[in-house]
Amino acid sequence: MTKAPLKGKASGGAAVTDTTLATYDARASRYAARYDEVVPARLQALLRARITPGDHVLELGCGTGRDARFLASIGAKVLATDGSAWMLREAEIREIRERTSEPERRPTYRQLALPPEWEEDRGRAAALAVLGVTEPFDAVVAVGVLQHLSWEALRPTAAFAAAVLKHNGILIASVPTKHPGAKTSDGRWYSDLPVEGYEEVFGAVSLRTAYVSEPELEGPKETPAEWRTVVFAKDSLVGRH
Ligand SMILES: C[S@@+](CC[C@H](N)C(=O)[O-])C[C@H]1O[C@@H](n2cnc3c(N)ncnc32)[C@H](O)[C@@H]1O
Repeated sequence: MTKAPLKGKASGGAAVTDTTLATYDARASRYAARYDEVVPARLQALLRARITPGDHVLELGCGTGRDARFLASIGAKVLATDGSAWMLREAEIREIRERTSEPERRPTYRQLALPPEWEEDRGRAAALAVLGVTEPFDAVVAVGVLQHLSWEALRPTAAFAAAVLKHNGILIASVPTKHPGAKTSDGRWYSDLPVEGYEEVFGAVSLRTAYVSEPELEGPKETPAEWRTVVFAKDSLVGRH
């Protein structure tokens, strides 16, 4: 018997993406100020352990670019993307203000709403063309963004990430895995997928779970959420993850 997919109860179509991105656009400076207060020490240790200088890294949902700048500072070549033009503007402001890395080590920023529009059956070249690059990525990083995707949007996003990754590449995702789901008062939509739900979606595109962190408690008090960072490895569990 085929196992039913582990679909979260909270579901939404393309409209939830539009509403969520519109909220990030409208409140970009407010959210950015809040994210500036976060120093994700555990995440940075995990990135440092898995990203090697010279690695080509794609970030999805980069927000203010905090992790993109960190990755660039440890020697990665970073293409940082976000669906919100206003969040990208906040990232650019911080890029100019902080100037933390040498010019050749600065991240490149680009607007990309998830799920990306691409012809899935045309494979990697088509996926990379969406990003305007030809070289596949050693790693894809998605911190605090996948929870904003409905089940319908998550599947093509996972397929896109798998397509742009090299063989043995890794995807590092931080997600709330015990979130009640649905729309919050400020207009952003959250999925209620447990970690097994993400494992199922990414597993279906040959991104196998290599590591799941211990839970960390984060989020505003009215929606306590247990966050985890999951590392998925493309094709094989043999490698550097
Ligand atoms: C909670 S913030 C996290 C930002 C950053 N990664 C961090 O950890 O500080 C979520 C980010 O995802 C972006 N985002 C939300 N939905 C998106 C979508 N469908 N496509 C692309 N970006 C999206 C938002 O614009 C926002 O910058």
